[in-house]
This record gives sequence, C-alpha cells and structure tokens, in this order.
Amino acid sequence: MATVPNDHIIRILDSAIRVAPLQVEDNWRLQQVEAALSLVHLSGEKVVKIGEVFRSEVEKGIHEQPSSLQMENTYIPELPDGTEEGLFLALDLGGTNFRMILLELEHGKLIREEVKHYHIGEDMRIGCGEKLFDYLAECVSDFVKEQNLTGTTLPLGFTFSFPMIQKALDIGILVTWTKSFNCPSVVGRDAVQMLREAIHRRGDTHVEVVAVLNDTTGTLVQGAVLDSRTAIGLILGTGSNACYLERADKVQHWEVQRHGEKQVIIDIEWGAFGDNGVLDFVKTDYDRQVDQNSLIKNSFTFEKYISGKYMGEIVRVILQKLVKDGVVFNGKASEKLLTSGAFTTSFVSLIEQDTVDGVGNNTKDILDKLGLTSDEDDIEIVKYICEVVSNRAALLVSVCLAVLLKRMDRADVTIAVDGSLFKHHPRLKTWMNKYIKLLAPGKKFRLLLAEDGSGKGAGLVAAIALKLQKRFQET
Ligand code: BGC
Repeated sequence: MATVPNDHIIRILDSAIRVAPLQVEDNWRLQQVEAALSLVHLSGEKVVKIGEVFRSEVEKGIHEQPSSLQMENTYIPELPDGTEEGLFLALDLGGTNFRMILLELEHGKLIREEVKHYHIGEDMRIGCGEKLFDYLAECVSDFVKEQNLTGTTLPLGFTFSFPMIQKALDIGILVTWTKSFNCPSVVGRDAVQMLREAIHRRGDTHVEVVAVLNDTTGTLVQGAVLDSRTAIGLILGTGSNACYLERADKVQHWEVQRHGEKQVIIDIEWGAFGDNGVLDFVKTDYDRQVDQNSLIKNSFTFEKYISGKYMGEIVRVILQKLVKDGVVFNGKASEKLLTSGAFTTSFVSLIEQDTVDGVGNNTKDILDKLGLTSDEDDIEIVKYICEVVSNRAALLVSVCLAVLLKRMDRADVTIAVDGSLFKHHPRLKTWMNKYIKLLAPGKKFRLLLAEDGSGKGAGLVAAIALKLQKRFQET
C-alpha cells in the first residue's frame, strides 16, 4: 500500500481537529480563553510528531534499548480457542475497589459468573505492602467461603493493573505504583509471590495463583472471545494503557524457555510514555501543575494527559488560572474549585454531553455543586475547555493506536476497549474513529467495547496458563 506523505496528513488533520469556536458575548474574555488554551490545542504537525516519537519509543522498547515504553512481554502466546474449561477465580486490583470473581467456563464460554466488590480504603492503598496483600488474601478467603469452595483447588488469575516486569506468566515485579496507590515497600517485589505468601499465611483455602496480567491484556483476551480479529487491548479509565499481539520473533525480552511461540501479547505501559522527556513539546503549564498535584510526581506523563484520573484535574487547573485572571466566575473561586481532584472526569463527560446535545443543564448543575456563581458566558467557557481537553486526549490516544495498526501489518484489527472514560464520555469514540482513520489511512479497524476484560479476561488467562503448563509438561 502506498504511504501517504506526512504533509498531506498534517493538512487534513489541521482541518479535521478544529473544535467548534467558542461563542461568548465579551470579546476580551474570548481572547483570554483562547490565549490560555493555545498550547492545549494540538496542531496536525504536533500530532504527526507525537506519532513519530511513539513509533521510535516502541521500537527501542521492544529492542530493550532505553525508552519510556516498557513493552513488557506478558508470556501469553495464544488467545482462547474454545477449549477452556472449569472453575476459575479472578482477583482484579487496579482501581479504588477491587473484585473477586468466580468464573465457570465450558468450551470457552462463560456459563456462570459470581462477583463480589471489596473496598480498599486509603490507609490500605497508601501504606504498608504486607497489610495490603494480607487484606487481599482475607478477601480471597471470604469469597471462597461464601461460594462454599474452601475444599476445592482453584486456579486464580491475578489482574494487577500496574506496570510490572514480567519474568514469566506468573511473576510480576512491580515497577511503580500509579493512579491511587502508593505502597512503597512493594516496588521491586513480585506481586504474585506476595499474594501467594499472604494466602499461605492464612492457610484456609486452596487457591493457586497461576497467572498475573494487566487489565489491557484481560481486555484483549476477552475481546478475542467476542471478535476473533481482536489484536489490541485498550484501557481508557482511571488510568490508561494498551497492549497488542506482536510477532514472537520481534520480542527480545524472553526469560522463560521458548516453545516455538509465533506471537505474544506485549503490554506497552503507555502511561509512562514521555517520562524521559520525549513528549515535553506537548506539555503545558497545566500538565506540570497536574503532575505536581498527583500522588506520584514526575511519572506517567502520557497517562496524566489522557486518563480519567487526571482529565477533570486539567480542566480544574485551567479554570483556576482563568479565575485568577478575572476571566470566569467574576474572578471568584470556590473552595471546591481550589481543591485538587474536586473537578472529576465524570463532570467532563457530563459537560460534554451538554455540548453534544446542544441543550442540557449538566454544566450549570456542576458549577452550582462546586459553589461557583456562573453567567451564560462562564458556562460556554467551561464547556469549551472540556471539549478542548477531551479532544486532545482523543488525538493522543488515536495517534498511538494508528502507529500500532501500521506496525502490526494485519489486514483487519479489532481494538477491544474498556474503561469508565471510554464508556461514559459521549464522543471520545467518535473522535477516535475519525482520527485513527486519518492517521492510519487504509487500515481496517474497529473499536469494540469489551466490558469487564479485567475480570473475565483474568479467568480466561488462568485457563490458558493451565493449558500451557500441561502442554509444556508433556513436551
Ligand atoms: C497502569 C497500567 C494499567 C492502566 C489502566 C496504568 O496506571 O500502569 O498497568 O493498564 O493504568 O488501568
């Protein structure tokens, strides 16, 4: 297929990414808002450059050269093929809640699912690692007892949605915490080992941790059950990340014996994209401020541009600046507007819904809730900021997906997606479809919502792990 020259793509992008102009009565306010947002808007040229940088980081990461992308081998060389059978447990840890799930598979199909949510308080998320894992083991035991399965040997797939160095399918060394977690003593340790030890300390169940995986991996695997063309897994939720099926011969990091694998899932860990400075040309003062307000500073650059934990916060710091300059809310902030985290990404989705519908009171209601007195222009400005920030996220995600599609060289790829941001934002998906098409011309793809990949996918990965164990023992 002939490649489309960059300057042509840049021209098309520049006309395609324009958001609807801000409509306010007061020209001074209009100019102030535009000036404040000028660097948040991405030009076609910048987008293409981001794609080039991402492609180069992917290439370096896969060759184990210094890169902000881990490109981690997950050691999952195959997707479900309909032979998965039996009872499996999944433990899904990544957000502020975690879940235990019991899955029964018959011929690869889910015939029974029991789920229980457990809350993890801040003292658990930010504190001593042993305490966290003891709590996880306590919940495993509680769930197994509730299911009347204490005497049964149960294989468990552990979805641990944080960056790990994987030395095998059941070894995951935590690189750094992200999102709302920070238990420093776990960093550099094997999360599987810690969970196994905690389960053994209790000694009241027969649970065997057979695989550790990332939520993107679970999403890809679950997506493959829904659509066999699935070859990319994407999470756009509190955090963000993607994984894809890579040709095994291209993968250098392989710590276990190879068994003639043709492909393997690679966990990109794209949240850290730019941590080495390669994305500094995108960074605005608002992004710097968001980073400074975050739990773990100077890390997860890309995630802080695009994910649910941070998008609302970007809007908040922009509004804070506009209040200071007397452009919005009559120059008066409220206590909530000055509180980091108070403007959530769910607000951004609701405000975007007003813009999409052309009517609606979400924006006004949210501003009231935040204790802000707003006029008509304020409302238009807040809607505009949410649009610009959301649009930037859509572009950033799309350009990276386009690079993957071009790299994979498959005729047709389904991208399995999950995550609260993707599900609740009213037009992220529409923008992504449009931008990916422009950035990867001629590539056939679709975005498929694969709900609960981190739960169902963990059960499926546990089943694959058992199949592999059996096969390797026989050979
Ligand atoms: C983690 C990833 C995860 C993503 C989505 C990021 O913060 O580093 O491992 O896949 O969040 O949950």
